[in-house]
This record gives sequence, C-alpha cells and structure tokens, in this order.
Amino acid sequence: MKILLIGATGTIGQEVQQRLADGHEVIPVGFKNGVYQVDLESKASIQHLFEQAGNVDAVISTAGAAAFAPLKELTDAQFELGWNNKLMGQVNLLRVGRSYIKEGGVVLLTSGMLASDPIPGSASVSAVNGALNSFVKAASIELGDELRVNAISPVFVKETMEIMGMDSSSGMSAANTAIAYQVALEGQMTGAVIDVRDYV
Ligand SMILES: NC(=O)c1ccc[n+]([C@@H]2O[C@H](COP(=O)([O-])OP(=O)(O)OC[C@H]3O[C@@H](n4cnc5c(N)ncnc54)[C@H](OP(=O)(O)O)[C@@H]3O)[C@@H](O)[C@H]2O)c1
Repeated sequence: MKILLIGATGTIGQEVQQRLADGHEVIPVGFKNGVYQVDLESKASIQHLFEQAGNVDAVISTAGAAAFAPLKELTDAQFELGWNNKLMGQVNLLRVGRSYIKEGGVVLLTSGMLASDPIPGSASVSAVNGALNSFVKAASIELGDELRVNAISPVFVKETMEIMGMDSSSGMSAANTAIAYQVALEGQMTGAVIDVRDYV
C-alpha cells in the first residue's frame, strides 16, 4: 500500500514507519521534517499536502498536540490547541484526504488511553482523545465500503517517559506500540478504537 504517514518523525511514527517499510511504500510527513510537511492546525496546509502527495491507499496519523495541565490552570489557548491540532487536525485528514484515498482505503488516527483512563491534568487531552474515538465510530457508519477508519489508542510510551525523566517501567515501547497500527492497516476492522495493549 502507498501510505501517507503524518508524524513519521515522532517517537511513535518512526517505529510505525520502520515496521511498515517492509511491504508498503511509506511517505513520511512531519511538521518540519519528512518528505512533505504539514501543519495539522491548518486545513489549507492539509489540502496542500494531499495535492503534493496525490492519491494514496492509506493515511496514518501519529501526530497531534494537546495540553496537559491541571484543570484550574488550563487556559483557553491550551484547550484550543487540543481542539485545533490533535482533534480537528486529524478529523480534517479524513475530511480532506477522502478525495485522495483510493476506494477501500484506510485512515488511522491516534487518540490515547487518557480517554478511558484519565489522570489529574488530563482533562483537555482526555476530552480530545474521547472525541477522536467517537468520531471514528460515527464516521465509519457513513463511510461504509468507501474507506475504513480507526483510532489507535496508545498507552504511555517508554521512550516518551524517559525523555520526561520518568520511570518508564510501566510504559510500552514505541516499537510495540507500532504493532497495532500494522494490525489496523492490514486487517478489516473499521470504526474501532484499538487499544495497543491488545496486540503485544
Ligand atoms: N508518546 C506517548 O506516550 C503517547 C501516549 C498516548 C498517545 N500519544 C499520542 O500519539 C501521537 C504521537 O505522539 P508522539 O509522542 O510520537 O509525538 P512526538 O514524538 O512529539 O512527534 C510528533 C510528530 O508530529 C509532528 N508534528 C508536530 N507538530 C505538528 C503539526 N502542527 N502538524 C503536523 N505534524 C506535527 C512532528 O513532526 P516534526 O518532527 O517535523 O516536528 C512529529 O513527526 C500524539 O497524538 C500523542 O498524543 C502519545
């Protein structure tokens, strides 16, 4: 499959790219790096990305920013980051990308475990992740055979925890996280929220 991988240069994205390289053509997309660049916060930038890349079989997003902070400290701007970047950026990958994805293709978006397992400080991130999970469930009903759409829900990634100076023993490696993306890409599921822990 010809796959546009948005977030290919990130912690999870690098491992997804490596995992899919054998058997698929992966086009890496980043914000600053990658073969193409896109800003998820800009629908025009997403449109430009697809005009450059042309038709593909699949779009995978391992990108999306949202703010983590105590509820009483979260600013309007921090909430808006989550809505505009991680939520609508990924929703717009499907809305814009739909015209460029071949019949029967697939879109994989990234949400996260904080949708179902919130922690203090996750109110904005949890809301965004939950919205993404609901979006794929609802969108799949209307998309039918046109294209499959799923959300991958990672747990805390070991490498990310290490970057943050945390004990990473409870985390999952980015390499293991990438397995779920391959399963969802090559399988038949649609409208699914895929817990990465189910595939390790
Ligand atoms: N890491 C975790 O522990 C974890 C856990 C659960 C869920 N998640 C979710 O998984 C996804 C990926 O996380 P990650 O830790 O792998 O991210 P990351 O290492 O911070 O990588 C971010 C990626 O997104 C790209 N990017 C940054 N800003 C962008 C923008 N405005 N538009 C388009 N692309 C942009 C970056 O490109 P450049 O390199 O070019 O800047 C990079 O490829 C996120 O949605 C995150 O919420 C992560």
